[in-house]
Amino acid sequence: MMTRESQMQRVSWTMPEITFIGQDGASTTLAGSIGESIMRVATRHGIPGIEAECGGELACATCHIFVKTLGDADTEPPGEVEDLMLECTAVGRAFNSRLACQIYLTDEMGCVVVELPERQI
Ligand code: FES
Repeated sequence: MMTRESQMQRVSWTMPEITFIGQDGASTTLAGSIGESIMRVATRHGIPGIEAECGGELACATCHIFVKTLGDADTEPPGEVEDLMLECTAVGRAFNSRLACQIYLTDEMGCVVVELPERQI
């Protein structure tokens, strides 16, 4: 069992990087914190193309992304509600579609790369 001190030490030593690629091919790479969602990293830094109207409540599908890689972490399939919400995205769903508010950074993720859809609304 991890103590609070060991958890804090892991947070301070591990900073996964997320690269956001826009439809114009421009990319931005940001550091996130363990436990933070990809959506939070994007909105905290004002990444255009992530609207996140519901603030991560899994109710808007305006945080749609295409996952290119989650680094060394296994890619888990979307949960049941996320799976339903992915049918409501402005740009059609693809095999690697996810909602950015539902992917939380872990220490297994070294380098995450996601592509942003053409639009969210
Ligand atoms: S922010 Fe609304 S579903 Fe992700």
